[in-house]
Amino acid sequence: VSLKQYNTFGIEATARYFSAFQSVSDLEELLSYKEKLSADNSLLPLGGGSNILFTKNFDGLVLKNELKGIEVVREDEMFFYVKAQAGENWHSFVLYCIEHNYAGIENLSLIPGCVGASPMQNIGAYGVEIKDVFESLEAYDLLEKTIVTFNLNDCEFGYRESIFKRKYKNRFIILSVTYKLRKLPVFNTSYGAIEQELDKMQVSALSIQAISQAVINIRTSKLPNPAEIGNAGSFFKNPQIGTDAYIQLKEQYPSIPGYTVDQQHTKIAAGWLIEQCGWKGYREGDAGCHARQALVLVNYGHAKGSEIFSLSEKIISSVRDKFGIELEREVNIL
Ligand code: FAD
Ligand code: EPU
Repeated sequence: VSLKQYNTFGIEATARYFSAFQSVSDLEELLSYKEKLSADNSLLPLGGGSNILFTKNFDGLVLKNELKGIEVVREDEMFFYVKAQAGENWHSFVLYCIEHNYAGIENLSLIPGCVGASPMQNIGAYGVEIKDVFESLEAYDLLEKTIVTFNLNDCEFGYRESIFKRKYKNRFIILSVTYKLRKLPVFNTSYGAIEQELDKMQVSALSIQAISQAVINIRTSKLPNPAEIGNAGSFFKNPQIGTDAYIQLKEQYPSIPGYTVDQQHTKIAAGWLIEQCGWKGYREGDAGCHARQALVLVNYGHAKGSEIFSLSEKIISSVRDKFGIELEREVNIL
């Protein structure tokens, strides 16, 4: 089965087996079928394919999550507890919440992919991360064959990290996520560009609708649309370095952007580092580094996953040589 339409990089890889499931019983049936397969027994749960790079064909079973449904499962004085099934499109879910005045995820507008992947890397943008609104999730344990509930502390969320990318990698299939959304919004416009965009939009009264629109405008202006140019968003994480090392770098490169994490740590804009190494707008065959956002690697048409990967290796090594900083990939490499 061709995976080209199932990954936003638009890489032409294939899967030996491919199936979608719309219910947990479907899923269980597929899993018991998988145990009988003689091929490589590996499994890949797939959402929107917007954070994946296929560097080779996948020799196991790809399971596309198509669980659907959104419901308010509980409410108290301050919050609605909104449960969404993993196969719901993330941005449609955000718009649904905004329409119903469930506040808290408006800053996360227009992130591609599905609800089920949102806890995987604790998706974040414009000053908000999933962990800020996370209540719990339900996941299918592939080892014990049971459904398990994870609360906030169980997930070990960090910057673009969770327990599902580390200790429990490949162990669980996320089935649904419950978010804790506010009845009375608390607006988060701390990310500078939002304020500027709201001014430009001449918004008179701040609202979650306005913030969502501002985020959509900013994102559309700098991130390539995967429907036009294949990509998976930021290819690397923004590296965190010691504040002392940052101060030294700043003496040499006064314009280096840094954000304080805590007293000892500073986060650096990887896009800036990559641009300084001369990669911005670079193209080799159909693999390239985006001209408006150096942190985004792109496929102009027929690049192979291995070509994108090898470009990422060159970028990592040049950033290491010039700045002594090690970039880490954000995208899941397969
Ligand atoms: P997929 O790519 O399908 O899967 C990602 C990983 O999660 C894979 O390892 C997969 O096996 C696993 N997985 C998926 N679903 C499940 C499940 N139900 N259970 C278990 N494992 C699962 N990310 C951000 O954080 N912030 C951004 O601002 C942002 N901007 C982006 C902009 C663009 C243009 C693009 C293309 C991507 C961007 N991303 C961003 C990355 C991406 O959108 C997110 O990581 C998103 O959550 C991926 O969702 P998905 O459903 O496409 O996941
Ligand atoms: N910059 C450059 N050159 C570039 C790109 C960026 O110099 O080519 C510098 C600029 O100084 C800019 C700074 O980097 O001010 C930060 O850039 P931007 O605001 O575009 O954000 P980012 O750090 O590149 C991060 C996330 C995005 C998220 C935005 C908004 C990571 C790895 N990326 O990008 O997430 O949408 O902030 O919050 O943390 C993703 O994870 O896929 C993703 C797109």
